[in-house]
Amino acid sequence: LIALPWPLPAVLTWAAAWALCGLLWHQQAPAWLALALPLAMGVVLAFLGAQGLRRRLLLGLGFPLSAAATGLTAGMPAWSWLLLLAPLLLLYPLRAWRDAPLFPTPAGALKALPARLGRRASVLDAGCGLGDGLLALRDAWPHARVHGIEWSPLLALASRLRCRFATVRRGDMWASSWAGHDLVYLFQRPESMPRAWHKACSDMDPGAVLVSLEFEVPGQQPIAQWQTPQGRSVFAYLPVADTKAFSTARSPRR
Ligand SMILES: C[S@@+](CC[C@H](N)C(=O)[O-])C[C@H]1O[C@@H](n2cnc3c(N)ncnc32)[C@H](O)[C@@H]1O
Repeated sequence: LIALPWPLPAVLTWAAAWALCGLLWHQQAPAWLALALPLAMGVVLAFLGAQGLRRRLLLGLGFPLSAAATGLTAGMPAWSWLLLLAPLLLLYPLRAWRDAPLFPTPAGALKALPARLGRRASVLDAGCGLGDGLLALRDAWPHARVHGIEWSPLLALASRLRCRFATVRRGDMWASSWAGHDLVYLFQRPESMPRAWHKACSDMDPGAVLVSLEFEVPGQQPIAQWQTPQGRSVFAYLPVADTKAFSTARSPRR
């Protein structure tokens, strides 16, 4: 879907949602189901079939808005609009919001990594979302083992399907070790960076590099810093096994 010229992905998503709605209606499914299933399908296709927030909103909201406009939702109880939240929560469990909502790494954003950081044999995208970071890492190092971990079950599944070359696990990046990789890549939030630094210092092997798109680690000097073709900053850090920093983070001094 994503490879089709715009606006074909939107037209096909809306048509598929309406076809499913018509089928369920014809089978005399309950009205709420005939609306909820096409809606959920539209949300999933919005994440798989388009890039960028605006296009995803267009794909995902096309069916519910047109259903409301045609009066199909008239008579539905007001709470039924909460059904909108169900597919969203499935796609995006609350814990994932705390670290970063879904903003994919732009294509080609990590092309400069090998020139800056040399060869890397095993790389991890912590919070791999839909797999755009995995694709960018594979572009940078075609021969590296590429790993991803993602909290949202649906996004982890999408990543796995899109990036067959990578090993993608569904799980919490904070609860899994970052050892064994010679580069860990993050595209999270500014608030997550101090925690990421402490984890990198405690888990990562000597010589392994922590790379962050857009957000720097406060108070730490990057070993390299540059701009992507899209004008975003990339920061690379060499975590040090700093037991004091780590124990201070875990058990603050009184
Ligand atoms: C800004 S997106 C980046 C996606 C991907 N790394 C990329 O660059 O294309 C951040 C991702 O981190 C995931 N995430 C947030 N907290 C997480 C956690 N504790 N464990 C695993 N994944 C998490 C979110 O679900 C989201 O998919």
